[in-house]
Amino acid sequence: MMKYFKVTLIALLISTASYTHLFAQKFEELGQTPPMGWNSWNTFQTKIDEPLLKGMVDAYVASGMRDAGYTYFVLDDGWMAMDRDNNGNLVADPKKFPNGMKEFADYVHSKGLKFGIYNCAGTKTCAGYPGTHGYEYQDARLYASWGVDYLKFDWCNTDSINARDAYTTMSKAIRAAGRPMIFSLCEWGNHQPWLWAKNVGQLWRTTSDIHAGFDKDLSNGSWSSYSVMHILDLQNPIRQYAGPGHWNDPDMLEVGNGMTYSEDKAHFSLWCMLAAPLIAGNDLRKISEQTKAILTNKEVIAVDQDSLGVQGFKYYSFDGLEIYVKPLKDNSLAICFLNRSSRQQNIYFDWKEHTLVDAIAKLDIDFGKTNYSMRDLWTKKDIGTTAKAFKQTIGAHDVVMLKLSKQ
Ligand code: GLA
Repeated sequence: MMKYFKVTLIALLISTASYTHLFAQKFEELGQTPPMGWNSWNTFQTKIDEPLLKGMVDAYVASGMRDAGYTYFVLDDGWMAMDRDNNGNLVADPKKFPNGMKEFADYVHSKGLKFGIYNCAGTKTCAGYPGTHGYEYQDARLYASWGVDYLKFDWCNTDSINARDAYTTMSKAIRAAGRPMIFSLCEWGNHQPWLWAKNVGQLWRTTSDIHAGFDKDLSNGSWSSYSVMHILDLQNPIRQYAGPGHWNDPDMLEVGNGMTYSEDKAHFSLWCMLAAPLIAGNDLRKISEQTKAILTNKEVIAVDQDSLGVQGFKYYSFDGLEIYVKPLKDNSLAICFLNRSSRQQNIYFDWKEHTLVDAIAKLDIDFGKTNYSMRDLWTKKDIGTTAKAFKQTIGAHDVVMLKLSKQ
C-alpha cells in the first residue's frame, strides 16, 4: 500500500512538473515571429456584430489568408455593453453578440484560428466602453474563460496612470489567469515601451494610429493619424529593441483600404522588412485579387517571419529613392528599393562597389568579394547575381523587393 502510494505520488509529481513546464513553455513561446492576423478596427471601427464577423472569419479562411500564415482574428473596440454586470464582469453587447462572446470565440477556433480581443488600461476605452483599470485580474480571468488568445490593450483615459505599472499589472493578470495570450501594448510609443516592455508583452505600438495614406497625415482635430511613410521614418532608431518575442509594432495594415496597388505593395513590403506584426484590417468579404496577392505573397511574408527576427534598416537614401536591408537567417538578405517620390525613377546599383555593415546582425559584407544570387519577390523570378549591377525602373510610390542568397 505504502509502495503504491509512493509510486502514485511520484507519478503525480512528474506529471505536474511536466505540465507546469509545458505551460511555462507555451507562454515563453508566444510571438517568436511577428504575430499575423486580422483586426476589425481599420475598416469597421465600432460597427461590428456577430453576423458580420462570422462572415469575416469565413472570408479569412476562403481568401487563403489562414493558409498563408495569418492566425489571429482580433475584435477591436466596440464589442462590449456600456456597463459591467452586477458582479463587475464585462459583458459582450447583447445586441451585437446575442449568443455571447464564448460562442463567438468557439466559432473562430472551430475554423482553425486564434481569437483576440481589445480593452484599455484606462477607465474607458478610446470609444467610451468600460476600461480595465482596477479590474485587471477579473478581466483576464474572463478572457481566459472565453478562450482568448490575444489581448490588445489601449491607452485612452489614463490621466493619472503610470504606463509601465499599468501594462505590467495586466501582463501579470494574464499570467495568473493561466491561458497563454499574446499581449499587445497599444500605448502609441508615448512612454517608450521598447525600453521596458520586453518582458511585459510580445509587441508594442510605436506611434499614433495609421491611416490609409501613403505620405500625408490625416488630422482628426486634436490628434493626427499618420501616413505609412511617416510611421516608417519613426522605426529606424528603435530597431535594436525588436526581436523574437518582443516586436516594435508600427500599427496594423491598411492594405486594401484605399491606397493604390503600388502603395499597398510598398506598405506591405516595408512592414515585412521591419519584422512588423502583420495584422490586416481590410474587408475580407470584398477582397480584390490584387489585395489578396499582396497579403498572401508567401515569399514576402517569409521575410517578415524570418526566424533571425532582426528588424530591417534604412541603408541608403537619395532623392526619394531609399534602400532597406533586412538580414535573414542562413546569411541571406532581403533588400527593398523604395521610390517614395511621385515620379518614376531608375535604379542603378553596382553591388561590387558597396559594403554592408550592421552591428545588430553582426553583418560585414563586401559585395566585391561575396556573390549573391537574386530573386525578385514580387515577380517571383530569379534575376541573376550581384556580380552585375542591378538596373531597373521603379514607379512612383512603389518598391522592388529582392532576396539575396549567398552563392
Ligand atoms: C486607439 C488605437 C486604435 C484602435 C482605437 C479603438 O486609437 O490606437 O488602434 O484600437 O483606439 O478605439
